[in-house]
Amino acid sequence: MKISIIGSGHVGLISGVCFAEKGHEVLCVDHDNEKLAKLRNAEVPFFEPGLPELLKKHHTAKRLRFSDSTAEAVKFGQAIFICVGTPSTERGKADMTYVEKVARDIAETLTDYRLIVEKSTVPIMTGERVKAAIQRYVRAEVHFDVASNPEFLREGSAIEDTLKPDRIVIGVDSGKAETLLREVYAGYECPFVVTSIGSAELIKHASNSFLALKISFINWVSRLCERTGADVNEVAKGMGLDHRIGPHFLHAGIGYGGSCFPKDVEALAHISEDLGIDASPIRMISTLNKGQADRFHDRLEKELWVLKDKTLAIWGLAFKPNTDDIREAPALSLVQRLIKDGAKLRVHDPVAMPAVRKQHPDLYYAKDPLDATSGADALLVCTEWPVYREADLAKVKANLRVPIIFDGRNCLDRKRAGDLGLTLIGVGKPDVRPKK
Ligand SMILES: NC(=O)c1ccc[n+]([C@@H]2O[C@H](COP(=O)([O-])OP(=O)(O)OC[C@H]3O[C@@H](n4cnc5c(N)ncnc54)[C@H](O)[C@@H]3O)[C@@H](O)[C@H]2O)c1
Repeated sequence: MKISIIGSGHVGLISGVCFAEKGHEVLCVDHDNEKLAKLRNAEVPFFEPGLPELLKKHHTAKRLRFSDSTAEAVKFGQAIFICVGTPSTERGKADMTYVEKVARDIAETLTDYRLIVEKSTVPIMTGERVKAAIQRYVRAEVHFDVASNPEFLREGSAIEDTLKPDRIVIGVDSGKAETLLREVYAGYECPFVVTSIGSAELIKHASNSFLALKISFINWVSRLCERTGADVNEVAKGMGLDHRIGPHFLHAGIGYGGSCFPKDVEALAHISEDLGIDASPIRMISTLNKGQADRFHDRLEKELWVLKDKTLAIWGLAFKPNTDDIREAPALSLVQRLIKDGAKLRVHDPVAMPAVRKQHPDLYYAKDPLDATSGADALLVCTEWPVYREADLAKVKANLRVPIIFDGRNCLDRKRAGDLGLTLIGVGKPDVRPKK
């Protein structure tokens, strides 16, 4: 099938290459000329494992093309996927400016039946709004459908998630829309969930908020552990073996970040308040998350006393491993806070340093993880990249001026740290301290 994608960012581009991989012909549109120039050269604009290879493959095979024209997308694709951003407004609502603009642009050149699919994460009832906007601006008497097809990919494993999803959700209100979306997803081996448009929209927001809740819940449990000497990993393991709970998203740490959870939780709170429903359970998720970063900072101050002029090594800047995305990254907020404290920072991340350098050109960007620790008064681990898990702690100890590590992701080998006489302070776990 011919498919158009509007918005070629993390979701649009990944969807585009994966639709091409499944045999469709795809046109991806974006209005960012710098991004388009790269894409037209088959260069990826962000880090995502497996993406460069697939992009090259389908660019060469001419199954995937790029354009800056929504009009061309409307002419080309039987199905048009809207994949533009839905960031937070200052008040925390989902900003629908980009989605509304795309709806109007589509209407301008719509002359034959098209299926318009919202893939961006949008508040419930957006489908109705998109439909109304198109109806208002369309120039010809033309039939069209709007559907919802929320995206559940995770950055870092986005290709695998998109080619082999846990489920595909489509929200439709016409048989034709369902038939077309079944054609788009023919050959995918996973449950295909067909719902109303509103249910599909809500499935996405509710799923993200529930995952964020699991993280915030275990972070809250970690506070009980810190007060009582219990170990949060042991508690999480014991909980997660219960099939009703499951082991995923029960890892305590310095909190969630990224372009989805923080904004989607806030947006769901606003949606429920607009509908007159108490949002306090949802608001508590972000309050706990913000508190987790504060607690980590408090632990630093408690242990190191004054932070001004201390040299601190930071491992990990991206909001999670396997991505260079620093949007709402807990590591980045900590960096900003430590700069205000007057600490001197030696930072490292396998792929996110160029993005951080644009915002903070004056930090020391280390050549490798060990270089970051050189002469530092402490090491802070903020993202659990494998390279940090596997680091040689003996060399780290030799490099540090003071052998203290704050493991904000509970990813280092505690036994090895203890054997080496390091101080290791984790989240929700008893401290490892040298024997006196
Ligand atoms: N990033 C994720 O992991 C993820 C996962 C699931 C869902 N989502 C949701 O998908 C949506 C997109 O997120 P993203 O991370 O891909 O955002 P992104 O910022 O990476 O990409 C959005 C792209 O849309 C382009 N754009 C905006 N307006 C346009 C227009 N009028 N015409 C053409 N292009 C336009 C921008 O230039 C940008 O390249 C959001 O609603 C997000 O919540 C994101």
